[in-house]
Amino acid sequence: MLCRTIVLLTLCVVYLCEAADPVLTPQTLTDSVLNTADSNSNIVWSDLPEGQTYKTDATYDDGGMGPLFDFARNFINTVFSGGFPYDFIVDVKDGNFDVTRDYMQVLSLFGGYAAAIVIGFLFIIIFTIVGCCFCCCRCCGNCGGKMLHKSSPSTSCRRKVYSVILLVLVVFTGVGCICIYVSNDRMTTAIGKFDSTVGNNLDDVDLFLNNTVTQVKRLLDNDLNFTFDVLFRDLDNVDVLVGIPVRDKFDQSAGINAIFTQVGGLQTDVNTVISKFDTVDSDLTNLKSNFSAFKTDLDNWITDYETTRATCPDGPSVCNLFINGSNLSPPFDPNNIDISSVKTEIDNVRSQDMSSLVQTAKDEFNGIPERVKNDSASTIQDLKTTVTNYKGEITPIIDTIEKFQTDASGSLNIEDIKKLVTEYSDLAKPYDKYRWYGGVGLTSIVLLVVLLEFLGLAFGVCGSSSDTLPTERSCLSNAGGNMLMAAVGFIFIFSWLLMFLTTLTFLIGAPAEKFICEPLSEPELETIQKLIDNFGLLGSGNESYLGKTLLNDPNVDLKIGTVLKDCGDGKTAYTAFKLKYMSGFNLSIIQNYKSQLDIDSKLNSFNVDFSTIEVAPASLKDNMQNFKNSITNMNFTSYTEELNKNVTGDDLTAFITGLTAAINAASPSTFKTDMTTHRDDLITIRDGSFSDAVASKNTLASSMSSLETSVGGIPTKIDTLLASLNTTQEFLNTNGSTVLTNVLRDFVLRVFTITDALVNRAISGLENDVAKCTPVYNLYQSVVVIGFCKYVIDAFNGFWFCIGWCLFFFVPSTIFSVKLAKHFRRMKQLDMYDATLPTKNDDHNMIGGRNKVGHSDKF
Ligand SMILES: *[C@@H]1O[C@H](CO)[C@@H](O)[C@H](O)[C@H]1NC(C)=O
Ligand SMILES: *[C@@H]1O[C@H](CO)[C@@H](O)[C@H](O)[C@H]1NC(C)=O
Ligand SMILES: *[C@@H]1O[C@H](CO)[C@@H](O)[C@H](O)[C@H]1NC(C)=O
Ligand SMILES: *[C@@H]1O[C@H](CO)[C@@H](O)[C@H](O)[C@H]1NC(C)=O
Ligand SMILES: *[C@@H]1O[C@H](CO)[C@@H](O)[C@H](O)[C@H]1NC(C)=O
Ligand SMILES: *[C@@H]1O[C@H](CO)[C@@H](O)[C@H](O)[C@H]1NC(C)=O
Ligand SMILES: *[C@@H]1O[C@H](CO)[C@@H](O)[C@H](O)[C@H]1NC(C)=O
Ligand SMILES: *[C@@H]1O[C@H](CO)[C@@H](O)[C@H](O)[C@H]1NC(C)=O
Ligand SMILES: *[C@@H]1O[C@H](CO)[C@@H](O)[C@H](O)[C@H]1NC(C)=O
Ligand SMILES: *[C@@H]1O[C@H](CO)[C@@H](O)[C@H](O)[C@H]1NC(C)=O
Repeated sequence: MLCRTIVLLTLCVVYLCEAADPVLTPQTLTDSVLNTADSNSNIVWSDLPEGQTYKTDATYDDGGMGPLFDFARNFINTVFSGGFPYDFIVDVKDGNFDVTRDYMQVLSLFGGYAAAIVIGFLFIIIFTIVGCCFCCCRCCGNCGGKMLHKSSPSTSCRRKVYSVILLVLVVFTGVGCICIYVSNDRMTTAIGKFDSTVGNNLDDVDLFLNNTVTQVKRLLDNDLNFTFDVLFRDLDNVDVLVGIPVRDKFDQSAGINAIFTQVGGLQTDVNTVISKFDTVDSDLTNLKSNFSAFKTDLDNWITDYETTRATCPDGPSVCNLFINGSNLSPPFDPNNIDISSVKTEIDNVRSQDMSSLVQTAKDEFNGIPERVKNDSASTIQDLKTTVTNYKGEITPIIDTIEKFQTDASGSLNIEDIKKLVTEYSDLAKPYDKYRWYGGVGLTSIVLLVVLLEFLGLAFGVCGSSSDTLPTERSCLSNAGGNMLMAAVGFIFIFSWLLMFLTTLTFLIGAPAEKFICEPLSEPELETIQKLIDNFGLLGSGNESYLGKTLLNDPNVDLKIGTVLKDCGDGKTAYTAFKLKYMSGFNLSIIQNYKSQLDIDSKLNSFNVDFSTIEVAPASLKDNMQNFKNSITNMNFTSYTEELNKNVTGDDLTAFITGLTAAINAASPSTFKTDMTTHRDDLITIRDGSFSDAVASKNTLASSMSSLETSVGGIPTKIDTLLASLNTTQEFLNTNGSTVLTNVLRDFVLRVFTITDALVNRAISGLENDVAKCTPVYNLYQSVVVIGFCKYVIDAFNGFWFCIGWCLFFFVPSTIFSVKLAKHFRRMKQLDMYDATLPTKNDDHNMIGGRNKVGHSDKF
């Protein structure tokens, strides 16, 4: 029992499956990187792989020295007020330069610079001479060399003012001293960091190449494959995507399914008519048998009756009362109702199963999708081959980019460069150490002066008071004064050296900043690019060097500056390096896929012969025609005419009444007795076979009329349906290809939408997302701009600027130190006496003892 149920269910399911239309399989597509396509082939791309993160960024920390470097830079800019001497360089190069004519130009360009250097050297000479003179002057007891302090009412006030001014100068010089130290240190830091900065940046460039390859592969390998998977899915589902719409269009235009429903509905009519006809047929058979029984009875009775009537013994008045029995002979004859030919036709219709015929036609129509698929199989296969070949043409692009990576990292040889950089910076480090020591030495000299001045000032201020006599100033105050004088001495001794170093470093640092770092730091390197262009440094004439080396095309206008700027702006390598001009990376093959693949004409070339689809098979039409014929052959007029005839000629009951009256009138005799018997027999017939026949006839009449009602309208209906079937078939034959073309157009659009999605993805990805070349910019920025210019040159310039700054404040502090020393040191003479006081403190007296020259090694 259970088994039977299962079998039934299975059969049922199989039947349903066969009947069901094909559906899009698979409904949605997903690939390993989670790109998805829905049933409408709308593709949702997954995010591009981020790639490994880069180690460096091109940020720069000036360590709080920014203002100092700005000062130095402003100074340099003031000195080189003429800006970058581009025209000058070009003139010199072209041999257009003539000193006698163009000296003004040179002056405006280098005048400030030269003046600064001259001032430096003048300072060295003059300051040294002044120092010597001052020394001699003091040694001779002049220039304040006498240990005599003239008091005046403003002495105290002056001392305070001098102290404050000197303090301020000391502070400024002290700041300068710190700056010297920091600048000096920063150069060492820069050299120490250079190694790792370059290393990290090179690693980043390597990563960048890797990331580029990964991302491009995603676009042109994964995503391309996915696109073609979606495309193949659609091509494989051509029955769903083309066949079903075509069929539905047919149905819409020609109402085919409605016609099938109506033709199917004819089966009910057929069944009704057949069953009613069968009733009529059996009723007719019954009638015939019942009527023939009655007819036999009646004929026998008439024969007997006529024999008796001929022996009538009475007079004519009575005998004439007995009516002729043959008046009863029936005008009706069921054999006149002839349905035998109709019966043959009906049996013919009955033997054909109309609904199965309709089902066949319907299946034929519903099979259009499968037919579309079958008929397009070769076209689709063709298309798939083309697409696969097309994919083969894209693969070289991936190979190109992979080769680019190998080439680039091969030619960069990152590990070697890193090793080289490490070697050189290791080589430079010991020398840098000496440089650092030198810088620290310089710092120490300045620091010594600053400390002496500061301590001198502090001791002096603490140790003196305004009301002590100059000759009785405290030891502390005297020491302070001597320290100030020592500071002045050191200033005179070392200033020429400091100034010499300042001038020397300025000589190098200022042009380096102006002519190297400034152009190198320009965001688009316009100046450098102009120079390169003008001098044909990288390639000659209009040829682009980068275009030639990177892209093999000297006509591509690829400039270093623009590349760097674009990379700095976060553009992609494809955009920044104008890779579209690179042979092998020309995406026009992707952009022009339409003409490459020729999908359009390929799809349009596939043809389905719809005229072979028989929605109106002859068998169905014949059957319908037969049915109609059988109905029209039923001559209901003739049937009714026969059925309207009376079963007996004279009315039987009236005949019996008349006979009874005649018997009553007859005189008693054998004749009367016989007639009475006849009358009784007739009554028996009337109540027996006659009434059976009449009832049979009425039954037939009613079933006949029912049949007539039910066939009414059927022939017209069949005619209409036949015409519709004809029209439908006609439509398939003539308009089928037009419908197919229209649907194919939609399908082609759908296919193009898929491939367009890839093209947009690939192009916009390459132009906007893939392989942002920031590391290239970072490499340049952090090595050249930050590593070299910002750390080394800026620190270098900061260095001379700070020394210069200190020297600048040395001059006034010399003056005020000397002035203040007078206020702090213990004097030998008092203003009011013109005599030399005997002194107990000759040892402390550094300068005054004209007769103790041995002690006066310092002044
Ligand atoms: C770059 O990718 C290759 C494989 O494609 C790998 O072997 C190499 O280690 C990667 N380089 C870096 C720096 O990640
Ligand atoms: C893309 O398809 C090709 C073959 O058609 C195959 O060799 C390649 O591995 C596929 N790429 C990916 C990422 O699946
Ligand atoms: C389509 O082809 C298959 C196999 O080739 C065949 O079985 C089927 O009958 C064909 N269908 C139509 C509608 O031609
Ligand atoms: C460079 O290009 C300019 C215009 O773009 C043209 O006038 C000049 O002749 C070209 N020079 C060379 C060497 O091709
Ligand atoms: C790409 O290649 C096509 C032909 O292969 C060429 O017509 C087109 O100019 C190229 N595009 C670029 C940007 O080089
Ligand atoms: C039907 O029968 C009537 C009389 O019997 C006759 O006149 C008529 O022509 C017949 N009709 C057809 C269609 O045969
Ligand atoms: C049939 O019989 C009825 C009476 O029963 C009579 O009125 C009628 O005229 C008869 N019809 C014919 C065609 O003789
Ligand atoms: C007519 O005759 C059949 C036998 O042929 C009988 O079975 C039936 O009952 C009769 N019909 C009537 C209405 O008397
Ligand atoms: C249907 O078409 C056939 C031939 O294709 C024709 O013989 C028949 O008369 C047509 N029937 C109708 C109802 O148009
Ligand atoms: C069928 O095509 C003919 C021309 O070939 C056109 O006149 C007619 O309107 C079309 N029928 C339908 C239903 O589109």
